[in-house]
Order: sequence, then C-alpha cells, then structure tokens
Amino acid sequence: MFLFLVICFFLPQNKPSHLAPLKSKYFADIDNKKLNPLPIVDNKINVRFMSMCWFINCVDVQEVCFVDGEKYDLNLSRHHPIVDTHMQVYHDPDIVDTNYVTWVDTPNTPRVLINPESFLNSRCAQYEECVNRFHWVISTSVGDEGMWPYFLPGSIHSSFLSDIKKVDFQQEVLNPKLMFRREDQLEYESNATFTEPYKPAIASWFTSNCQSTKYVQREQYVMELMKHIKIDSYGACAHNRDLKNNNRFDPDQKSRILSKYKFYFSFENSYCRGYHSEKSFQCLQNNVVPVMMTHPDNLKLMPRGSYIFVGDFKSAKELAEYLTKLENDDVEYQKYFTWKSDPVILKEWYDYLVSFYGNASPYCKLAELYINWIKQGGWTLSKSRPLKNVCLRADYFPILSKQ
Ligand SMILES: *[C@@H]1O[C@H](CO)[C@@H](O)[C@H](O)[C@H]1NC(C)=O
Ligand SMILES: *[C@@H]1O[C@H](CO)[C@@H](O)[C@H](O)[C@H]1NC(C)=O
Repeated sequence: MFLFLVICFFLPQNKPSHLAPLKSKYFADIDNKKLNPLPIVDNKINVRFMSMCWFINCVDVQEVCFVDGEKYDLNLSRHHPIVDTHMQVYHDPDIVDTNYVTWVDTPNTPRVLINPESFLNSRCAQYEECVNRFHWVISTSVGDEGMWPYFLPGSIHSSFLSDIKKVDFQQEVLNPKLMFRREDQLEYESNATFTEPYKPAIASWFTSNCQSTKYVQREQYVMELMKHIKIDSYGACAHNRDLKNNNRFDPDQKSRILSKYKFYFSFENSYCRGYHSEKSFQCLQNNVVPVMMTHPDNLKLMPRGSYIFVGDFKSAKELAEYLTKLENDDVEYQKYFTWKSDPVILKEWYDYLVSFYGNASPYCKLAELYINWIKQGGWTLSKSRPLKNVCLRADYFPILSKQ
C-alpha cells in the first residue's frame, strides 16, 4: 500500500557549471555519423579508463568475458594508446571539474559513461549537455544501455541459491544479538553514573552523508524514530554511538555490527527507480532485517518477505510500534528469514535480478556493447539521449501522520 503517490519527475538542468565547454566539433556531429571502429583482433578488447584512478586502484583490470558464447579478454587500463583503444570509459563521480577528466576527442571510439550513483547525485548523468557527450551509459537509471549492479546476480547465486540451507534461527539469527546485548548491558551497568535501567537498541544506522536533505529526509525520519525506540547510530548523522576500535567505515566491522541488531535502517540518499545500494544486501548476508527507504519499484530487487518497507507506514511512530512488536515476538520476526530456505522465492529473486541487471559483470557489459555494436554493422550512434529516471520527492515518506 503506497500512501502518497506524489511522483515527481525532476526536470533536468542543462548547464552544469563544473563542465568545460567542448572544444571539439565531433561531439556536435555524432548524430547519424558512420564511425569506423577499431576491429577486434584475437578477441582482445582494450577499454581506456579516462578519469581518476581510485575507481580501478590505478592498476589495469583484466577480465574474461563471454559474449554469445565466445570468449574475450578485456583489458581496462588508463594507459592504452588512443590508437589501440576500442572504447573510452568515464566514471561519473570523477566528473567534478574540468581538471579531473581528460576529454579526448576521438571520433571513432565510443565513449561510455559509468554512473554507479543515483541520478540525482550524479555529476554528469542528470545533465543533457553532459550525457550527450556519450554514446552509451551504464548507470542506475532504468532504460540506459546497462544497469549498474549493486547485487551481482552471480554472487547472489553462490551466496544463497547454490546451496539452500535451513536457517538455524536461534543459533544464527538470535544468538549474536543476545550476546551483544549481554556485553552491552554489562558495560552499561559498570558505569556508576547510570540511572535508567538498561534498554537494548533494536536497530542500527550508519550514515555519514547528512547533508543530502534536498532529496531525502532520512535523518529527520530517524530522529523521529528515536523518540520511540532505541537506535544505535554509528555514522555522523544522529550520531549516538562510537565504534570500539576506530571510527572508520571498515566494511567487515560494519558487517559484524549489523548482525548484532534485529533491524537496520537501509535508507537511501535519494529515492530513484533503479538506484538501490548495497546496504540492504549486506543485511541479507548478516541476518538482520532491513527497513527500507527507497523507490518502491526497487523492492523487487529483494527477496519476497525479507524486508520492511517504510512506505507501508503512516508515520515514523507507527513504524516504531511495529518494530517494537516484532522485537517482542520471535515467531513473527522469524518469518523475515523464511525466504532463505524457500527455493521458489530464491529463484524468483534471482531471475528478477538477472532480467534487471543482466548476467554480465559491469566491465563485461562494456564488451557486450562493443561487440553487439560491431555485429549490427550499422555503426550509427545517436547523440540525442533522453534522460531516463524517475525519482520521488524528499517528503515521499511521511514522518508524522497527517490527521
Ligand atoms: C593491458 O593494457 C596495458 C596498456 O595498454 C598494457 O600495458 C598491459 O600489458 C595490458 N595487459 C595485458 C595483460 O595485456
Ligand atoms: C557513564 O555515564 C555517563 C552519563 O550517562 C556518560 O557521560 C559517560 O560517558 C559514561 N562512561 C562510560 C565509560 O561509558
């Protein structure tokens, strides 16, 4: 049930200030031009990475890709000579200003934009002026040439489907939480100044980007929840608990902490269709129930019955009451884990992920695009790319119930 169907199509802004004006005439001429692509020799595809190196750690990435059953070697590198480059790849978050990205004008080399962020937080993908510099886009926007996968269907298969097990609810789900609570209580009571009786936190939250209020009201929502239930917030937003060893967001430490609470707030930084980060997937791996704040279409990326959706509640208070009820009812809480041993749900989930993301890894999607383009032989790439996304307004999820 979706209470507020206020859908907002964000209108594109066409003049991003961080983009250099184009010097070349090629960009304006892409439309209906027959390109002369570099042929593929010995099934080797060279992809030149055009921006900062943190994304590929400055090292060349080799990947074996299968396209239509044939094997290709893909080499992603920042060092391919222009004449040996099949395609150029630009990483959207690096397009910060004119100094970060080298715009190399090569009329016969397709340019691909990769955007793993949401449409609203993109530096290029949301601007017509910028996105039209590219032949193909791999992003989190439904309708682009490739979807950027946060859950690789292959890893879902090996984690959950290839060996379906019955979950030992007491041992695997409840015990880590009970153990943590015992430690937490001892620590609390060892503090001579405590006055209130110990109360366990039932949920955790990790978010450090608190400034994103333009597109979401997640921090306000959590603050309201905190009036009703105890939440441990480790990130900068609504921070009330420190990490023991260090304050850095080490993913292993995050995993361990996730598993200690019954719920985790998987609240996205924007509610865009197709943008669904790894947070909720980490919950599935760590036996914690994700409470999801995301575009409702993205719920299909999760196994049926594995999550709680904020959009099903009239207010933060109502959600808090539901979480409290589950906290005290192990039979109901346990139902959120039945998907793990249900082959029908698992298969349905996996099939949907494959249809949504495709089976290829992100880099092999590049190989697919190039090979299919050459095979089609037309070689005409349109420059006019309609912007594709639907994002919801920041106030889509009601914090207080409307009387
Ligand atoms: C990948 O490409 C780079 C740059 O052209 C080259 O130096 C390197 O040897 C290549 N790696 C392989 C394994 O072919
Ligand atoms: C003990 O409790 C006080 C008051 O709640 C708090 O300020 C202090 O940080 C606590 N000390 C420890 C070691 O947890």
